Amino acid sequence: MSIDFHPTAPRPVEETEPLRDSRETNPMFNDQKMKLGLFGTNCSYGLVMSHAPSTYEVTWAHTKEIAQRADALGLEALVPIARWKGFGGTTNFNGNCFETYTWAAGLAEATENIAIFATSHLPTVHPIVAAKMATTIDRISGGRFGLNLVMGWVTPELAMFGEQRQQEDRYAFGQEWIDYVLQLWGEKGSFEHHGTYFDGVNLESYPKPVQAPRPVLINAGNSKSGIDFSARNVDINFASLDTLENMKDYTTAIKDKARNDYGRPLSTMTYGLVVARDTEKEAKEVFQQVIDMGDYGAAENVINIALSGSAGSFEHAREFQERFVAGWGGYPLVGTPEQVVEGLGQLNEAGMDGMIMGLVDYNEELKYFGERVMPLMVQAGLRQ
Ligand SMILES: Cc1cc2nc3c(=O)[nH]c(=O)nc-3n(C[C@H](O)[C@H](O)[C@H](O)COP(=O)(O)O)c2cc1C
Repeated sequence: MSIDFHPTAPRPVEETEPLRDSRETNPMFNDQKMKLGLFGTNCSYGLVMSHAPSTYEVTWAHTKEIAQRADALGLEALVPIARWKGFGGTTNFNGNCFETYTWAAGLAEATENIAIFATSHLPTVHPIVAAKMATTIDRISGGRFGLNLVMGWVTPELAMFGEQRQQEDRYAFGQEWIDYVLQLWGEKGSFEHHGTYFDGVNLESYPKPVQAPRPVLINAGNSKSGIDFSARNVDINFASLDTLENMKDYTTAIKDKARNDYGRPLSTMTYGLVVARDTEKEAKEVFQQVIDMGDYGAAENVINIALSGSAGSFEHAREFQERFVAGWGGYPLVGTPEQVVEGLGQLNEAGMDGMIMGLVDYNEELKYFGERVMPLMVQAGLRQ
């Protein structure tokens, strides 16, 4: 017996069309020269592999307070870490962690203007489920949602889901995954998908997201296949780089690639620990305390994974052990508000369109950041 599930009356337009242009609804497309976000406020210890004192904790009340403070300050983005297992050591770094789609849904309701991302390990979610969750969060947030597409490079956690693919194959899988999600977001009527990894018939997904042409996409691939994936598919690439010179080369190359090979614009952002204090001495002491109280067991595990699992993206990991302890391998900005703004300006000149920050104590330090650093960014022409 065949049952026809197709509706016999036309679907209403609110179901079949995206509601608004993402450039109007999503702050990732605003005209701030140097965008700002927070990274890792859903996972224990955030970006800091250390017992350095902090009030930061992974409770719903606390993560929500951070989000609301960032929103009130006018930051552009909240980007969570996708994590299923801690890195061991005395902190079990990142091991106490909220799942990111559901986290984003809660924060979408709790905030007004900021863009909220889910960081999705693509092999762990079926495209039909992901497309629908993303649409739902986009609707909750009024078009402020975005997806950070990650392939999964931390083998012990991906092993929780079964066997992990080889690096190249991860991006081939990711390409089919996002193509499938784009179909689900865009296609009207029912369609089929026949690929290498997924097979589906009589497919549909309603309603469509708020954002047209689609919710904002980011990817942090830094290997050859990761860079190609970003250039082809996303709005923003996140890069993990050590020097300003390397950043300049990287941002120029990846933006050129997106434009020349795929005819699309691409922005780039980086990340790192920001420590701003009234004096340089004070800021350096706080940074040093993070290092002195570091969890070198966890850091060693992270570095070993970074060296073995990422096809060269973290090739300087061993050399930069302190940067891992204090900022997950990102680019640190430590000093007075003036020095931090100078650093943000240098990143911007190196082609970075924004930075997602780790803070030792997100909630407390955000207050200072809003009062002392952001006004100087306006003076420096980095923000309006
Ligand atoms: C800013 C940033 C955020 C990232 N967030 C995550 C994450 O939350 N979970 C994860 O498994 N990988 C994350 N990654 C890892 C990347 O997705 C990517 O796999 C890694 O940079 C290695 O690059 P490759 O996959 O091109 O080798 C992140 C990387 C960067 C630079």
